Amino acid sequence: MSTLLSIKNLNVDIFSDKSILPVINNVNIDLKEGEVLGIVGESGCGKSMLASAVMGLLSPPAKVTNGEILFENEDLVKLSQKELQNIRGSKISMIFQEPMTSLNPLMKCGRQIEEVLFTHEKLGRDELRKKAIHAISEVGIGRAVDVYNDIPSRLSGGMRQRIMIAMALICSPRLLICDEPTTALDVTIQAQILKLIKEIQNKKKTSVIFISHDMGVISKMADRVAVMYAGQIVEIAGANEIFTNPKHPYTIGLLRAIPDMNTGTKALHDIRGSVPMLDALPNGCLFSPRCDIAIKKCFKERPKLKGDKHCTRCFVVNDKESYE
Ligand SMILES: Nc1ncnc2c1ncn2[C@@H]1O[C@H](COP(=O)(O)OP(=O)(O)OP(=O)(O)O)[C@@H](O)[C@H]1O
Ligand SMILES: [Mg+2]
Repeated sequence: MSTLLSIKNLNVDIFSDKSILPVINNVNIDLKEGEVLGIVGESGCGKSMLASAVMGLLSPPAKVTNGEILFENEDLVKLSQKELQNIRGSKISMIFQEPMTSLNPLMKCGRQIEEVLFTHEKLGRDELRKKAIHAISEVGIGRAVDVYNDIPSRLSGGMRQRIMIAMALICSPRLLICDEPTTALDVTIQAQILKLIKEIQNKKKTSVIFISHDMGVISKMADRVAVMYAGQIVEIAGANEIFTNPKHPYTIGLLRAIPDMNTGTKALHDIRGSVPMLDALPNGCLFSPRCDIAIKKCFKERPKLKGDKHCTRCFVVNDKESYE
């Protein structure tokens, strides 16, 4: 499989009056065609910022200050807003946690899907209608014609999310970015939407970046997993590897915090402390203040991401492995 997206040495900074805050710090990611990459990390780790950077949707005070985002071998960082608009919605689409960020609550669902399609393909009325209704039925909605004529504010949360997925997929994008698409939904609907995304992804061989703070959700979706902490990738490996052989103490902590599927309750092992503020990052390893295995060096130096297929950013793990 060839590489569809290649993020190289990406830095995104937020420019405030007093300082420059490193919100994305030297991120490197390759995404192959048809691959699902999960990005996981607690709130504030920079997951949405990374998604916005790929979509070309960063707005001041946030800005890409270093690196490349190569999509189909073209650097998205260098494109104009006009060029990015041509790619957004057609080759790269995004679905968000809250469908109402991309849906107009009072405009008929069908019209909204047609508008996205028409922006990229100048089709006639009948053709637009046919394709919109087909898209609505493809996301598992039985009464497609009724829903075509309905407005989002009259639909349930799960239905709205389906409409947003139909809208995101109408131009058959090669890359779909899902930013916490099911976080606002109850558990049963969440499971249905995850299944739907997975089915469509399988059928169309779309590449997906799937963002969540929940390892349980990531385990259902991803082929490969990148764990983010305070703007950095601290571990990246195949999904099976991450779940059976996690190495970074942060990843291990996230895995312990997966809610119990039967009771819905969280395990007792939440990670102590919280994600550092960007204007008060620790000197050494960014995770060191919360880490149970940190050694002296961890509080003084920043570890690099090391490894081949399974990469970890941790002195303790990497030093141990270099002796083995
Ligand atoms: N305009 C801004 N000014 C200053 N800081 C900002 C701004 N926008 C975002 N941030 C900071 O950037 C960091 C990353 O935010 P981001 O939204 O990418 O996190 P996230 O991982 O998506 O979190 P969540 O799981 O809550 O969605 C956070 O620390 C946030 O406070
Ligand atoms: Mg977010």
